[in-house]
Amino acid sequence: MLVHAITPNTTYEFAADVRTGLTKPLQKELLSKYLYDDVGSALFEVISHLPEYGLTRADERLLRRHSHEIVERLATPVAVAELGSGSGRKTRHILEALCRRQRTRYYPIEISRSALMMCERELSDIDSISILGFEREYLDGLLEVAAHRRTGQHLLVLFLGSTIGNFDRPAGIQFLTEVRRILQPGDSLLLGTDLEKPGVQLLAAYDDELGVTAAFNLNLLARVNRQLDADFDLTLFRHEARINHVDRSVEMHLRSTCNQTVNIPAAELSVEFSEGETIWTESSHKYSSEDVFVMARSAGFRCDAQWIDEEWPFAENLLIAE
Ligand code: AVI
Repeated sequence: MLVHAITPNTTYEFAADVRTGLTKPLQKELLSKYLYDDVGSALFEVISHLPEYGLTRADERLLRRHSHEIVERLATPVAVAELGSGSGRKTRHILEALCRRQRTRYYPIEISRSALMMCERELSDIDSISILGFEREYLDGLLEVAAHRRTGQHLLVLFLGSTIGNFDRPAGIQFLTEVRRILQPGDSLLLGTDLEKPGVQLLAAYDDELGVTAAFNLNLLARVNRQLDADFDLTLFRHEARINHVDRSVEMHLRSTCNQTVNIPAAELSVEFSEGETIWTESSHKYSSEDVFVMARSAGFRCDAQWIDEEWPFAENLLIAE
């Protein structure tokens, strides 16, 4: 696999975002995209195997059961781009179904190089596949993929795992609209969305007994220590998951257990925390099946088909660019 990489000034950007987030007057925050350094990505992979967190298994089950049907609905020839390839485990089902019909070019787009490598290891044995990875932010990568498009070739974009849920709702629609702008009519987007379920089930999924999600969340502070020379004492913060009934989301926070000051030299920042104050690190929005149809329409797509997992309510949605 050829990896197209750029070396953005990531530490500078990270420091600027940390500074902006931790100086917010009402609610301190750190952006959830920073949860995924190498350690965070590895911890997320473990989360996806936890009994309490059924989301990834539901996504994979739907792809395993319905890939054939999904592929039948696509305009061909088609190249596949995936936003946030992760390990590539779930994608195998779609790619195998497609490769039975045509030679397939697969473009994983990821900000984590190690995730791109893992994805290549997982998928390169599929017959009739060629893989070209882009180490990029999603939309930058997708623009490059679109530039590689051959005449008459369609694109299938995969946005699985309910990553859309980590955007707030207006930003999610905005993101889908940007994706639509890059596509041509008849191209498709396979979108995974986690559906609403009881609060107790969600709280267990985002605050598991083993403490893996807690470690995943706390790793964000450890990452600020590693990359920005900060002195967060991880023992003085607690992971917290809570339901936001208004937003229909699960939020992750890190709660300071005492009054304390944290220094972050590379962000030229000293931050005061009072006892009980939190840093908001992620929201995971949950959807109704109708929400997806509305969201698709506002972004310039039509929802052509939807498959729902009964065991862990989750929807795989095939959206067609209009
Ligand atoms: C990647 N994303 C869809 C996961 C989610 O469920 O929102 C990230 C995650 N956060 C805590 N556990 C898993």
